[in-house]
Amino acid sequence: MPEYESHEYDVIVIGAGGAGLRAAIEAKERGLRTALVCKSLLGKAHTVMAEGGAAAAMGNVWPEDNWQVHFRDTMRGGKLLNNWRMAQLHAQEAPDRIYELERWGALFDRTADGRILQRDFGGHRYARLAHVGDRTGLEMIRTLQQRAVALDVDVYMECKVLRLLKDAEGRVSGAIAYWRASGDYVEFRAKAVVVATGSVGKSWLYTSNSWESTGDGHAMALWAGADVIDMECIQFHPTGMVWPLSVRGILVTEGVRGDGGVLRNSEGARFMFDYIPAMFAAETADSEAEADRWYEDHLHNRRPPELLPRDEVARSINSEVKAGRGGPHGGVFLDIASRRSAEYIRRRLPSMYHQFKELAGVDITAEPMEVGPTCHYIMGGIRVDADTEATTVPGLFAAGEVAAGLHGANRLGGNSLSDLLVFGRRAGMAAADFAEGRSGAPSPEAGDVERALSDAEAPFGREGGESPYDLHQSLQRTMQALVGIIRTESELVEALEELDELDDRATRVSVTGGRVYNPGWNLATDLPSMLTVSRLVAKGALERRESRGGHTRDDYPKADPELGKVNFVQRLGSGGEFTIAPEPLPEMPPELQRLLEEEHS
Ligand code: FUM
Repeated sequence: MPEYESHEYDVIVIGAGGAGLRAAIEAKERGLRTALVCKSLLGKAHTVMAEGGAAAAMGNVWPEDNWQVHFRDTMRGGKLLNNWRMAQLHAQEAPDRIYELERWGALFDRTADGRILQRDFGGHRYARLAHVGDRTGLEMIRTLQQRAVALDVDVYMECKVLRLLKDAEGRVSGAIAYWRASGDYVEFRAKAVVVATGSVGKSWLYTSNSWESTGDGHAMALWAGADVIDMECIQFHPTGMVWPLSVRGILVTEGVRGDGGVLRNSEGARFMFDYIPAMFAAETADSEAEADRWYEDHLHNRRPPELLPRDEVARSINSEVKAGRGGPHGGVFLDIASRRSAEYIRRRLPSMYHQFKELAGVDITAEPMEVGPTCHYIMGGIRVDADTEATTVPGLFAAGEVAAGLHGANRLGGNSLSDLLVFGRRAGMAAADFAEGRSGAPSPEAGDVERALSDAEAPFGREGGESPYDLHQSLQRTMQALVGIIRTESELVEALEELDELDDRATRVSVTGGRVYNPGWNLATDLPSMLTVSRLVAKGALERRESRGGHTRDDYPKADPELGKVNFVQRLGSGGEFTIAPEPLPEMPPELQRLLEEEHS
């Protein structure tokens, strides 16, 4: 067996995006030995790609805003599949987390009288996204990173975790990883572990996600015995670039629509108006009364139809293109040029201006952008306790996109950045509590490290087998074609059959050379997570026989009120197979239920 170095901590955090950094800060501030382990360079996690802002009911632009309205928007946006307690905590605590970030040095855009400016986004009743132009995630990471470095959190960057380790009592006791540059292995022993590994988008062909989003945390937690829920709930962001092909999928921030941009078809029509009545015709709500209420609310609010929740806008674009009214590259047109001055566009959306100019040769101050849906976010994920982010495995915590509950079946834009801060902090606190209460040094079960290393080494021992690149591309094609924005039973069954074949091919993956600077081997070690997550998504999508939020079934086009009361829970069975079963959502207290029903004056 190859040699490996070993380190011991109280808390390790896997993933250095917003949630991971915030968790590590919390544990370190408590005086615990804390390490941050991340696959890419510190400061390069996918959070930097978040553009539009962080949602928090601070009431700086609309004094009427408050946590109750934010809670209601989040629940409605999530089609009521949300964990109510997470939605409540998020709405209540997000403003404090934004002000905390400001105290730590984040430079938000300002109102005329010097407060944090808030912008409009889909599904939010009031303009409530604190932002820094269209580079909010970058500023958030810069600020958190500076704080973590000042606190002297140990950072292991470009270090890929392969497996979580557990002790003989079933508690998590660390993780086994390797340095991407040298290929040398490294073991972390820890009393508590926080998983904050982000998204899964790299299993689809067109995604806004960066290369790290291979679902490592989802898969590792499941392999370690954790429950995952509602994996079928994937968000396709309505506006990704569609051309040139080399950059297809890259995010075009909702901030463009929040700042006045509109969607047009090839005939120049603002087609979103045509889709409003259908959306509220009980197809996406659990009852007609509820649909009526939502429609009234929307009209009362006088929101442009481009700012409906993302699932609805993405489906409308899909229908428009299918009806033959799309652009030359299969998208529709996002037009801000005819509605705002060039100076305004360049000031408010500098990255979008630059991105289209450099990548597509399009001047967005003068011409529309061609855009289409792109795989952006997973609402499903690791099941956690709302207050502590504890998973079902003792000592294991999860926060950020990898954890499920807050966003239900569809996430509102901007709720992710505040999610990272609120639940990153809570996960860090609870992991610190757990570590403090745990006696003795953490020690993994005999044989676990050896098994993980032997699996990682296996591709070197096979000659002339499957290329990891070919396998990855096949997986992306399967998921894009068969588990995309609109799903049907026959396609999902076909997807699961193809995934069986891909699993089989994965046992024959081979790589050449050694472990040093070997991207082929790096990808080979990502494939087990991607295959596992893809299966969880396809199985969840097959079981949820309804349409709700980001999960649309062509063969079950309506929401089923009974299925709106359950999470689909998946876990590893005793024979190594995945099991799936519906389990009731936590019951909402009557005072919050009333909030959802209240008309807003
Ligand atoms: O459109 C955007 O700027 C994305 C933001 C988000 O997903 O929260």
